[in-house]
Amino acid sequence: MRIGVLTGGGDCPGLNAVIRAAVRKGSKEYGHEFIGFKFGWKGPIEGITTPLDWDTVENLLDQGGTILHSSRTNPYKIEGGVEAIKKNMADLGVDALIAIGGEDTLGVATKLTADGVNCVGVPKTIDNDLSGTDYTFGFDTAVNIATEAIDRLWTTAESHDRCIVVEIMGRHAGWMTLHAGIAGGANVTLIPEVEFDIQKVADFVKERKEAGKASIVAVSEGAHAIEGMVLKDGEVDAFGHVKLGGVGDWVAAEIKERAEIETRAIILGHLQRGGTPTAFDRVLATRLGLEAADAVNEGDFGKMMALQGTNVVRIPIHEGTDVLKTVPVERYADAEVFFGA
Ligand code: F6P
Repeated sequence: MRIGVLTGGGDCPGLNAVIRAAVRKGSKEYGHEFIGFKFGWKGPIEGITTPLDWDTVENLLDQGGTILHSSRTNPYKIEGGVEAIKKNMADLGVDALIAIGGEDTLGVATKLTADGVNCVGVPKTIDNDLSGTDYTFGFDTAVNIATEAIDRLWTTAESHDRCIVVEIMGRHAGWMTLHAGIAGGANVTLIPEVEFDIQKVADFVKERKEAGKASIVAVSEGAHAIEGMVLKDGEVDAFGHVKLGGVGDWVAAEIKERAEIETRAIILGHLQRGGTPTAFDRVLATRLGLEAADAVNEGDFGKMMALQGTNVVRIPIHEGTDVLKTVPVERYADAEVFFGA
């Protein structure tokens, strides 16, 4: 069998470890050949390939990013995109695809499977918001980076008796902010799932200031204040929510004014996606890659590899993408215990 591999959507530490594991198991144990498609779904649409074999995946385990490059190209949004994939696969003698990606990439894999293309999916996102899997690789690395950032921000915040607001990635789900907020000992943690009252946030910071303490506020890029509290100088979107990328600055400005404390804001942004994966993510990515090789070998198409408890299992791809896995309110309560002075 000849198997194509691609990575789509935002990159994520651990992608290369999946590629390495799938190629090594599939070639060594089953005798399959592999070929890399570059730039996500753009690769099979345009026939852009790169060799993949035992040797080309040497030294990949600890490398961040993806050797296959990535894009957000969607064949269902391009005229003739699906037909082009089928033609290029036939021309190249590719029998099946391993698609490594998030909601969009795996959504395409579901549709392609229904349209007769043999696909299996491997879930990836630092956001940890795919359903049917307890964790996605990349999440642990991103949380560790954000936690280290908070640890470092503490010493400077305390030295200057300041409040520092740290904006963490996550447009729709607050998993990274929740975990980094708890691990870094943030005094307030704000996530997209729970609207916040900026006055209460400022009151917590003020209470701490009066007790002679600095503060750290962790905020997801997709968090928003309750209605009526963010309408300021057009810094809101059509829904009255603070625009993405601006919430950290907005929260910092409001705290400065309301709590009368010197405040700074930092956006961690793509720092959280770069660099080498943690050992946890390397192992998880490897296990998912090994399982993907097994699934393709067995002809078990339309399945997504998933971590449930300590086991790697296969579920229909759409079960991973139909509903976003957001932070339950009771989990948010874990962080709320630590709000205030
Ligand atoms: O989905 C991963 C993610 O890093 C989100 O947390 C973030 O909102 C988004 O991607 C950023 O996307 P881009 O790299 O296109 O700016």
